[in-house]
Amino acid sequence: MVDIVLLGAPGAGKGTQAELLRDRLSLPSVSSGDLFRAALSERTPLGLRAKAYMDKGELVPDEITVSMVAERISQKDCAAGVIFDGFPRTAGQAEELDNLFDQMQRRVDIVLYVMVSEGVLLRRLAGRWTCRECGAIYHREFSPEKVQGVCDACGGELYQRPDDTPETQKRRIQVYLQQTAPLEAYYRGKGLLVELDGEQEIDVVQGDIVKAIGAVTTGRAC
Ligand code: AP5
Ligand code: MG
Ligand code: ZN
Repeated sequence: MVDIVLLGAPGAGKGTQAELLRDRLSLPSVSSGDLFRAALSERTPLGLRAKAYMDKGELVPDEITVSMVAERISQKDCAAGVIFDGFPRTAGQAEELDNLFDQMQRRVDIVLYVMVSEGVLLRRLAGRWTCRECGAIYHREFSPEKVQGVCDACGGELYQRPDDTPETQKRRIQVYLQQTAPLEAYYRGKGLLVELDGEQEIDVVQGDIVKAIGAVTTGRAC
């Protein structure tokens, strides 16, 4: 059993690393952003409520986000551990996650803080393309698909996220610095934070992540 949190700014590579880790560890990746986007594409009340915040680059209120994630992690496939991508993102969400995990007799085992400078974040977000069907993530320059516009994994159509306009990207980074960056101190204080150089190549970052997880899981069943 291992519960992993990926922490980092928009464009840091949380989704990219979560995908690789999911395949490697056979654990589900729980991305609050993906859950909101799925709800929106199904036009559920939750999705429509979240859209108003996502379009502006603001965070969806904690009570909506926490209940959605709580529901997700109560599902069977999450019993052996999860990889959180983009959750928690406020002090309130981090505390709620601790409470939820207390009730489930589990805990966050490691927080991987993927560090990337602002200029690099913007360059990554500007070139990102995502598969509409399976969510696979590409970059026109750094991680291109084989056939332009077509997902290598499932043949689905690639699109650019509507919250990747230059204004919204900047706002998301600001919101990250104001509301999410304080979680570094929260998790450092608990001895769970591992800082990683997120400006290295995708596979090198993944290698560092795997080593860090190995260091906390060695010697215990997981
Ligand atoms: P969310 O979907 O979580 O977006 P985000 O935090 O803005 O992060 P991104 O998905 O943009 O970046 P990423 O770190 O996943 O980078 P990626 O791997 O794609 O949230 C969207 C919205 O939903 C929020 O604004 C909010 O409204 C709402 N929301 C979600 N969670 C919430 C929560 N908990 N509370 C409240 N509201 C919430 O990589 C980016 C690009 O870089 C890709 O093209 C990739 O190919 C490339 N790349 C990645 N790594 C590398 C590398 N090492 N080298 C070169 N290129 C790389
Ligand atoms: Mg993401
Ligand atoms: Zn796909």
